[in-house]
Amino acid sequence: MTKKKKEIGLAIVGCGTIGRIRGELARDYPGVGWIGLCDVKSDLGEKLKTDTDADFFTTDYKELLSRPEVTAVIIATDENYHMDPTLFAVERGLDLFIEKPLATNAVESKRILDAIEDAGVDAVVGYTQRFRRRFLAVKERLITGQVGDVTSVVARAFMNRMVPIATLARTQDRANLTPMVVSGTHSLDMCMWLMEGKSPVSVYAQSCDKALGKYGTKDGTFGVFTMDDGTIFSMNISWALPTVWPGSVYGIEVGIVGTEGIIDIEDTHRDLVLASEKAQGAGYAPEGFDPGAPRHVDFLTSYPPGDMHDDQLWGPMREETNSWFQRLYTGQSTPHATAADGHRNLMLTMAMDLSAREGKVISLPVTPEQLMA
Ligand SMILES: NC(=O)c1ccc[n+]([C@@H]2O[C@H](COP(=O)([O-])OP(=O)(O)OC[C@H]3O[C@@H](n4cnc5c(N)ncnc54)[C@H](O)[C@@H]3O)[C@@H](O)[C@H]2O)c1
Repeated sequence: MTKKKKEIGLAIVGCGTIGRIRGELARDYPGVGWIGLCDVKSDLGEKLKTDTDADFFTTDYKELLSRPEVTAVIIATDENYHMDPTLFAVERGLDLFIEKPLATNAVESKRILDAIEDAGVDAVVGYTQRFRRRFLAVKERLITGQVGDVTSVVARAFMNRMVPIATLARTQDRANLTPMVVSGTHSLDMCMWLMEGKSPVSVYAQSCDKALGKYGTKDGTFGVFTMDDGTIFSMNISWALPTVWPGSVYGIEVGIVGTEGIIDIEDTHRDLVLASEKAQGAGYAPEGFDPGAPRHVDFLTSYPPGDMHDDQLWGPMREETNSWFQRLYTGQSTPHATAADGHRNLMLTMAMDLSAREGKVISLPVTPEQLMA
């Protein structure tokens, strides 16, 4: 039976790199009837309005979210500014897509989650990698028990330092812009999703900051979680690889060991190498970011949202955005991370940072107040 289709009136708050990608996809989705945009930078927002033929632009998110046409919102402001527009959208009962992390402050994140759950709105968080065919194939094999009971999971994420340098340049408020909170959260979400049903009871982690300490962040954080059923989960990220590292953004390896099998995931993008006498740019380049050194070798497809062809983005962010539109338009079930998943991910990434700071094992769960103390 076909469900009744519900036309989408879409508001996008934040017209930077990610707001633009999602806005361009919205323009081409047949179920989106109206598009309104907001950014505090009017030049950026007006340009996106022209490029997507959007219906409305304002620098005031309250004005946008109060428009009668709006039924759903994408919160694509930078990491530190998700809370206010999100809470305003929840008050209006709008469906939400919130970019990760849910917030960079654990108390704010809990406030967002409570507001969403109290209001009963449908809210998802942008954990884009769930939409890759390879991870969906792994998830299906785990659900159907192909490796037996999972006993241990190991994840190693390597990132080019261009990404943290570009991210940190946007703000002076860097205390919570750590490798785990900003980027390790993607790998952690993936592992927690693949281990669905298990809850962590403790974590021990260590960090170092020799290369990126001067930017106000860590180079990397390595940690080990113990889950309630005894499963061990090793989550390691370094986001300080030199700018000339061929992976321009993100590469991971994940091993999932069970009582009757193993799934070994190589996702470093070393299988697609470009070498050129022409220098390659940055994989992630908000507003004119310059990598500072020529890069002649590139592992293609390491930019997590996808790749450009014919002025269009192809890859996981397209699948993620379009399937969110389908979720709204037809009511289809989708593998998006929920707001509860987003909050859990922030709490666990911050617990790793707390353990590294204090040099001791942290019992889980912790409260948001403990993390922010
Ligand atoms: N899922 C993914 O793969 C992925 C990849 C990159 C970034 N992200 C996330 O997407 C979000 C946005 O990142 P980005 O790279 O697009 O950042 P960006 O800096 O390019 O864009 C953010 C925009 O938000 C605007 N803004 C900030 N506060 C605002 C407010 N109160 N009202 C209106 N506009 C406001 C800024 O002016 C800026 O233009 C972040 O949370 C980031 O972590 C997700």
